[in-house]
Amino acid sequence: MRILGIDTSCDDTAASVVEDGTKIISNIVSSQAEIHEKYGGIVPELASRRHIEMIWPVVDEAMNKARTDFKDISAIAVCHGPGLIGSLLVGVCFAKALSYVNGIALVAVNHLEGHIFSRFLEEPEPEFPFLALIASGGHTSIYRVDGFGMYVELGRTRDDAAGEAYDKVAKLLGFGYPGGPIIDSLAQSGNPAAINFPRPYLPKTFDFSFSGLKTAVLSYVRKKGDSSGVNGNEVSDIAASFQSAVIDVLTEKAITAAKKEGLKEVVLAGGVCANSALREVIVRRAGQEGIKIYLPSPQLCTDNAAMIAAAGFYHFKQGKLAGLDLNPRAYLPLGSAHG
Ligand code: KG4
Ligand code: ZN
Repeated sequence: MRILGIDTSCDDTAASVVEDGTKIISNIVSSQAEIHEKYGGIVPELASRRHIEMIWPVVDEAMNKARTDFKDISAIAVCHGPGLIGSLLVGVCFAKALSYVNGIALVAVNHLEGHIFSRFLEEPEPEFPFLALIASGGHTSIYRVDGFGMYVELGRTRDDAAGEAYDKVAKLLGFGYPGGPIIDSLAQSGNPAAINFPRPYLPKTFDFSFSGLKTAVLSYVRKKGDSSGVNGNEVSDIAASFQSAVIDVLTEKAITAAKKEGLKEVVLAGGVCANSALREVIVRRAGQEGIKIYLPSPQLCTDNAAMIAAAGFYHFKQGKLAGLDLNPRAYLPLGSAHG
């Protein structure tokens, strides 16, 4: 059973054909990074305009690469939120038109649900129940996942998402967007213990807060005048020390939550989970607790439509179809909140 997935929730135009919810036949992502780079972050109006230009070519390429005709597609799975409303609108309108014209079923997928299901595109698949840590540019949350459609939010960020902190720190150090991969590679030549940036653990909750950490980096750089007053080695040390604080918090929260919930498996998802140091640290730390970590490949951590098609497969199997009255939602919580 082939599902066409579409995601335009943020700054990537993505389309993918996935078989039986697990096998990627094609996976096309058109990045807008070069458009937003000079602004140090995403400009929503520019993002939606670019989606309009790219949606048809990207879907076309995904179908061609998969050598698939629309008559072989069982359902179109589209991300309808959360995300930038103008960006989401492009994907949702396009998917509705494709569904109507070709008489193909439509299913609506929450972007965060998609991220959780990205690990089902690779072997071995995680087993329910598990804990999911989603750390991306727009979200940082921990979920208990008991099965398809059964999500309990255990914690979330109260201010910046982890990826947003990476992007802002890269910007204040004078680098472009997205900042995550830049800090990741700078940190490899830096000393993570050079500067003791705060670790915002927020006791008695699995919520996160990264804005204070970002401000601590800003104050540190300001003391030097500005980023031009920081020499090359020190930039690497700042990057490594900032990153170390983020990783410590993400790792400790995820492991503590898994232990409290009695879960032996933790699935990572979202762009920040492509981070090389986080991947190493969390696997090591979880190993000490007898917890198994499932890491999607880096290209499946960042936004893609294969994950939307994977989650869409389960919606379709359960008969959860969307109608042509489907509307995008900028704010779209996943599952129920804890306690
Ligand atoms: O999941 P994603 O592609 O989009 C959202 O749903 O937000 O995540 C994008 C975020 C950006 O903030 C980017 O800087 C961050 O993920 N990111 C990384 C890395 N690669 C991407 N952060 C840390 N290390 C990386 N290697
Ligand atoms: Zn995402």
